[in-house]
Amino acid sequence: MNSLHILAIPGSLRTRSFNRSIAKYIASLSLQDASVEVFELNDIPPFNADIEKDLPQSVKLLKEKLKSADAVLICTPEYNYSIPGVLKNAIDWGTRPGGDNSWSGKPVAIMGASTGRFGTARAQYHLRQILVTLNMYALNRPEVMITEAPKKFDAEGNITDEETRKRIGDLLDALIRWTRALKQGGVTG
Ligand code: FNR
Repeated sequence: MNSLHILAIPGSLRTRSFNRSIAKYIASLSLQDASVEVFELNDIPPFNADIEKDLPQSVKLLKEKLKSADAVLICTPEYNYSIPGVLKNAIDWGTRPGGDNSWSGKPVAIMGASTGRFGTARAQYHLRQILVTLNMYALNRPEVMITEAPKKFDAEGNITDEETRKRIGDLLDALIRWTRALKQGGVTG
């Protein structure tokens, strides 16, 4: 069985971001049949259509990483009931220039952690809507919405809550199965 390559994208630039910690935790797991690479959005500039004919290097790299990935995993915070601007900005860049949507056709899973009691639910449903126009194949379940994150991580960003680690593992397993099913069915490359 060929090993799958999954690109994990945290939607936060914060050094001590819970969502970045989740992406790094997933990349640290030893998986039998998949590898996970974290792609950080810190170097992606604000979108400007004036420069899309000569893409910034960081955007070219994002697009290359997306194209070579078998699947994508987005770990997003919730900002004002939606996804953070930095994530939307990267999503927009990935669809440009017109006709070259690097997200298209990729299986994708989403998860998120917030400090509040809704665990990024509202942001995740906004993101699901965007995934439709990106032509991505979104995994429906399990939904992983990590509430009250400070209670579930230590000061170094390690996930201390066993149940949270299990739910993240379940999502990752489901994404791997989903990606293989889509490949076997000839839906994705
Ligand atoms: C937030 N936060 C937040 N949380 C939430 O549950 N719902 C929300 O609508 C918002 N809105 C919001 C707006 C802005 C501008 C900020 C900076 C924060 C809190 C958010 O969940 C918290 O900062 C998380 O820790 C952000 O994720 P990272 O950076 O830890 O990954």
